[in-house]
Amino acid sequence: MNSSAISVGLAGLGFSIPEHVVDNHYFTRFVETSDEWIVQRTGIKERRWLQPGEKPSDLFTAAGKMALERAGLAASEVDLIVVCTVSGDHQGTPASACIVQENLGAKKAAAFDLQAACAGFLYGLQVGVQFIQSGTYQNVLVIGGECLSRISDIYDRNSVIIFGDGAGAALLQPHSVCQQGLIEAITIGADGSGAAYIARPRGGGIERLTPDILSEGTHLIRMQGREVYRFAVSRMTRLMRWAMEGQKEEDLALVVPHQVNRRILETATQKLGFPEEKVYINIDRFGNTSAGSVPIAMCEAEDAGLFEKDKLIIIAAFGSGLTWGAARIRW
Ligand code: UT7
Repeated sequence: MNSSAISVGLAGLGFSIPEHVVDNHYFTRFVETSDEWIVQRTGIKERRWLQPGEKPSDLFTAAGKMALERAGLAASEVDLIVVCTVSGDHQGTPASACIVQENLGAKKAAAFDLQAACAGFLYGLQVGVQFIQSGTYQNVLVIGGECLSRISDIYDRNSVIIFGDGAGAALLQPHSVCQQGLIEAITIGADGSGAAYIARPRGGGIERLTPDILSEGTHLIRMQGREVYRFAVSRMTRLMRWAMEGQKEEDLALVVPHQVNRRILETATQKLGFPEEKVYINIDRFGNTSAGSVPIAMCEAEDAGLFEKDKLIIIAAFGSGLTWGAARIRW
């Protein structure tokens, strides 16, 4: 980061998850699987899914509202809303961020969506940091959230079992204003050669949806789990190593990784020698909420008193694209 630029902090965090719980047994109605397999291979015991009539923007709005309340900022003061999602209310347009702007009454805020899948929140943070560092804006609300249950194929056991719905949010402000959560370092990156690993192969802008595509379900998420798994272990390890470079381990309060798969997180964090108690994991309760996973986990961890003042929080995520990002935050 440019050392002469304005420092950016996290003024408030928030999150929202649906009430409806989907346990692992639910999937046995549709595919050959078991609670034991899912728990053993992923660490997921249950996840939350939106129910008919509930919208992704309800989650985004509630998470954003909570972040503003915790920061003590009125919605009318927000300059920019960035919603990081690949599963917003509408396909492409209008942006969910505009719906959130209206819901919150954030009348003066510019608003747009950002797509970087599970790494979305890290991308959103980087965008917010740039707007504040440039002096353009003071109050940037970054919301990461998904409703992947609506674009998953209930008959594809390779993918549908891992996803949960949920959203998290962070209000960014100049650190001189909020005096907490200093973003000391942040990075984002991508490798499009892995674009096919997690994709909605058909439909989209390539071709019109046809009854055949709809019945095959290839407009829904397909995932090459093994390839993603291998990539995830090595990328998450590199990201966390990058974030801790030059830092003392005793300064680390907590690692809050993207909740991707318990085995991936354990392998990556053990490689780096992080003690188990310094790695926040909630995948057992919420599954993989993609762009929502890091901010939801951060908010829970803060509430649990795991963010120690002046100590470091490391966040890291990767996702479809392939995309990735990490940040080091001094609380
Ligand atoms: O946020 C980023 C998005 N995605 C990810 O991060 C996913 C990363 N990958 C993973 O988490 C894991 O690869 C999975 C959980 C998706 C799969 O676990 P795995 O241990 O890598 O299993 P596998 O793909 O190597 O499959 C092993 C076997 C296969 O059967 P055969 O071909 O050996 O007969 C799969 O068909 O397990 C089968 N399988 C299942 N069996 C029961 C795959 N999914 C299931 C299932 N229940 N739900």
